[in-house]
Formats: sequence, structure tokens, C-alpha cells
Amino acid sequence: MTERVDFDGPVILGAGLAGLTAALAAGKALVLSPTPLATGCSSAWAQGGMAAALASDDTPALHAADTIAAGAGLCDPKAVALLTTEGPQAVRDLAALGAPFDRKAGGDFVLSLEAAHAKARVARVGGDGAGAAIMAAVVAAVRATPTIEVRENARARRLLQDKTGRVVGVLAQIGDALVEIRSHSVILATGGIGGLYAVTTTPKEVRGEGLGLAALAGATIADPEFVQFHPTAIDLSAYGGRDPAPLATEALRGEGSILRNTDGRAFMADYHLAKELAPRDVVARAIHAERAAGRGAFLDATTAVGGHFPHEFPAVFEACQSAGVDPRREMIPVTPAVHYHMGGVATDFDGRASLPGLYAAGECASTGVQGANRLASNSLLEAAVFGARAGRAAAAEGLQGGEPVSLEPLPDLPDATLQGLRKAMSRDAGVIRDEAGLARLLAQIDALEPAYGPCPPLVAARLIVDAALARQESRGGHYRSDFPATAQPARTFVTLENADTAVRYAAE
Ligand code: SIN
Repeated sequence: MTERVDFDGPVILGAGLAGLTAALAAGKALVLSPTPLATGCSSAWAQGGMAAALASDDTPALHAADTIAAGAGLCDPKAVALLTTEGPQAVRDLAALGAPFDRKAGGDFVLSLEAAHAKARVARVGGDGAGAAIMAAVVAAVRATPTIEVRENARARRLLQDKTGRVVGVLAQIGDALVEIRSHSVILATGGIGGLYAVTTTPKEVRGEGLGLAALAGATIADPEFVQFHPTAIDLSAYGGRDPAPLATEALRGEGSILRNTDGRAFMADYHLAKELAPRDVVARAIHAERAAGRGAFLDATTAVGGHFPHEFPAVFEACQSAGVDPRREMIPVTPAVHYHMGGVATDFDGRASLPGLYAAGECASTGVQGANRLASNSLLEAAVFGARAGRAAAAEGLQGGEPVSLEPLPDLPDATLQGLRKAMSRDAGVIRDEAGLARLLAQIDALEPAYGPCPPLVAARLIVDAALARQESRGGHYRSDFPATAQPARTFVTLENADTAVRYAAE
């Protein structure tokens, strides 16, 4: 028998920076986290930091211009203006909560340069520890707020909808029990899709759940084909492997580290004038090309960082050392890996999705900020700025809505099936895509459909592949070897009903 709980406030699915910021902004919230707080979410793993116009020679307009240039024609300038204008205060608010950003002697933020930023504007913590330290401060604030309830080991098994389609709560699995949670609003903050790929820098638990749940409920999804590959995940395949792959932060290239192939040749000048600081998608494709040609790819930080590694980049140092690589003296083997999803549940600037009662924030949302290619260190910022906006808007929803039309949990993918899907996604919907590979992948997804059709991760995979097949051009994170030109300056907006190859199932 399913237990029923009525909650007078937003229910938030996910407990990364977006989810917890939304909870703090809402004041009263019920947060469901599939893992213990501050684990299993990409926010806690972020090495870079938060980009914001905090320096005296910087402005929100300059930050917006860089964000829009990186977004390759698909950013919504109004969303970007909100992000960059509200960004500095969002960083200060986190500092006030206790996030220990690196400071100069006089108290100003230490700001680093990252690729495609015209100014040094990334606020960091302890070199490469921003995500963990920011999350520790936010988790402490949430734990200290009695009106915020947190349930760990809790996963959404479907969104509850009344007969009008309004979202009226969530069916959650808490431990082994199914619980019907009724609420006036649900905020999806479930993160990205890295766990749908074999090579990812994100926690494996992050598998497009929010995207799939929202799509199955009938919500509009935006730009699902745009997946960002971080160029320099640490490739430990020759050292026993590690899943997910640890990250070698872009800041290492900001410090002057060089990309070389096995022969020691610095290869980035062959691909872009900005060399190591070229846009992320360009660097990812260059590394992919060197590896595909059998030349290998390595990050040489021996001169730029060398003996400073242990205190300047402790997380990268530890990851290398744990596999027996000493980055002070040796080059770090690197590979592109799925790092971020620009696409997501389409929202307005207050996180409202296309269904009444449903909100989304952070990586699982598509506010229009990230375009076809996210600018480095804009993701924690988006989580903080738009998470707070979503939390405030959802808290203002009045109690309404009818009885849920279904209380059936949606199916899950068995682990062996998921592992097969992850390999196929990396092979056919990866850094370089083409029609033959995407069609093969779609056939593989089709074959899983009779058994697992309305399974949120499978639906998320289908949305990515469908849209990648439909977008016959190359732009930002989406590169088609059969359509290398940039041609179609329009965002993708789909629902399951109008997806190009018509998704053939719907939640019962
Ligand atoms: C990095 O540190 O390279 C990642 C930063 C980001 O993805 O924003």
C-alpha cells in the first residue's frame, strides 16, 4: 500500500546547488535526494568555480558577450543578461553563507582566467575545490533551516498529474517504500545526463531522470542534442580505469599547461589560433582527432604547475596519484568526456516549465542561458541564480489541482542494459556524430522500447539522439561529420508527441 504525504510547499527533486538554492529561496520545501547530501551531484564535483563580473575592470555586459559568443547563436540574450547581472550578488550570497572563496589580502575575490572568457572572472575555492566547498556551505544552511525537510535515498518514480495535466506531486521511492507526495509544485533539479554515456565526468547517478520524467508528463524539452564534452577528463584506461573519469580542470590550461601527443608535440596550434584556450568544443574535437589518429593526447602541466600541484590543484593531483601518475613530472593522459547538458526542460526565467505546477532549475533545465555550448564556470552560477528564482516562484503557487490520474511507478533500466546503452551513446552520439551512427543508436533504443519504453533515462537518451539526427548542421557541442557547416540558427523545442521520429509511448 502506498503511503500518502501532503506537503504545503514545493517538492524539489535533486539536491545539487540548484535544488538546495531553490529550497533556501522557497523557505519551506521538501527535498528528495537519491544519495546522501553533497554526494551524487555534479555541483559537488565542480573544480572550476563561479564566473561573475566581480573585478573592477569587468562588467555583466562583458560576461554576457562571452557567454553569448560561446553559445554559438542559440543563447537567449535576456536570460544571459539576468545571469550575468545577478551573478555577482549570487557569488556574494554564497560567500555570506560560508562558501570560502579564495581572497586576496584586501578581501577581493581571487579571479582566474578560463577559456573563452575575455577577463579573469572565475571565483575559486582552494584551487580546484569550488564545488565541494560551496556545497558544504549550502548543505549546512539547509540543515540549519527547520522548514526545509530532506529525504535521502529518495528517487522520483513518476510525476503525479491530474486530468488537466497539472503536476500535483510526485510518486517517490524512499528506501524500499513508495510514497505519494502531494504538493502544489514540483521543482526538477536532477542534474544532467552524464550517466547515459560510458565516459563522463559527472556522477553515474545523473542519467537524465528529470528530462525523462518531464517529457513523459508532456513538458516541452529544449535543445536536447547539445551535450558538452569536457576536453580533458583524465584517461585512466591504461591504469585500470575509473568510472566516472576524473577531471583535469580547464584552469590548468589557463595556467599555461600544454596539450601534447605521444611524441611530445604541442598540437593545438594545428586546430585553433587560441591553442589551449580555444572554445571547449574545439579542444575536445582536437583531442578526439589526435586519439583517433593513434597519436594520443596528454596534458603537460609539468612546467606550468609542477611542484605547486599538491596545494594548487589538490583534486587533480590526488586523482592522478591514485592511478600512479605524478603530474609534477609526467604528462596526464586525457580524453573528452561528457561533462554538461546544455539542453533540458524548457523554462521561463522563473523556472516555470510548460506544465502548470512544474518547475526546473540547474542542469536539467533549459533557460536559454547556455545556448549550444556552455561557457566554462557558468553552470554553478546558473544553478544559483535560476535555482533561487525557481524556488521563489514555486513557493508562491497556491494549492490547486485534482486527483492524480496514475500512481504507477515508471520502469527502470536494469544495470546491464544501461551499461550497453552508455557504450552505444558514447560511440554514436559522442564528440563526432553522423547519420549512420545516430540511426544505429536509435534502432538500439527502439529495441529496448517494448520492455522499458516509458523509462525516464531511456526517454532522455531518445530525445538526445532524435534531436541530434534532426539537426543537420554543426554548432557548439553538436558536431555532425556529414553536416560540418553551421546552418540552422534555431533552438529545438520538442515534446514526446512531436519528436521528429515520433516517440511511440506515453506514460499510462
Ligand atoms: C573545469 O574546471 O574545467 C570545469 C569548469 C566548468 O565546466 O565550468
